[in-house]
Amino acid sequence: MTFDIISAVPDLLRSPFEHSIMQRAQDKGLVEINVIDLRNYGIGKHRQIDDYQYGGGAGMVMMVEPLDNCIEELKAKFNYDEIIFLTPDGNNFNQKMANRLSLLKRVMIILGHYKGIDQRIRDQHVTMELSIGDYVLSGGELPAAVLVDSITRLIPGVLGDGTSALSDSHQDNLLAPPVYTRPENYKGMSVPPILLSGNDAKIDQWRMDKSVEKTKAIRPDLLEEDEE
Ligand code: ADE
Repeated sequence: MTFDIISAVPDLLRSPFEHSIMQRAQDKGLVEINVIDLRNYGIGKHRQIDDYQYGGGAGMVMMVEPLDNCIEELKAKFNYDEIIFLTPDGNNFNQKMANRLSLLKRVMIILGHYKGIDQRIRDQHVTMELSIGDYVLSGGELPAAVLVDSITRLIPGVLGDGTSALSDSHQDNLLAPPVYTRPENYKGMSVPPILLSGNDAKIDQWRMDKSVEKTKAIRPDLLEEDEE
């Protein structure tokens, strides 16, 4: 899967993709992440990419022309399954959406800054608007790291154990059960004996019971979603 990410601050995106699972996924050729610097499409000597908003009000708006030129150039070269704009006024991104997006071949991701982007870009090019939560960040770079990471780990071959993404929290609308590793006893706190029993069926049942118990206590809304 290929992600083409248009950013006004591409340096912010370097580190999240250069370590651990994300780096290995790229090394294995399972994902390609291209970060395109919007400044290269800026207008005039100062490579301007933002301007005051019509109608007044605080905060700059990202201009239509640099974004349009950049997007058109990419569209002329590649076919996109989705063109995503990350914005706090978008639809809520969740695990179900990550699963769906992980099946796609190529997506473009547009990142905003300041007060947002000129509406005409949204009207003309964007096919999907996503928010990573009900809070506002300074720009779309951190949300892009969240989006790309959550999708990448679902692509077959990215995680060592093919089943481990399926046991994550939020798959099946359940929170993950508690996990333990060595030592068996630490400062008087011991690992639940069932996990040392070697009885796989009982362990699976215990994990399911704990998942349900935890979801009921912390996120009962997830169980209601399941019934829809
Ligand atoms: N840009 C700024 N805040 C955001 C959020 N919560 N989700 C997606 N993009 C954003």
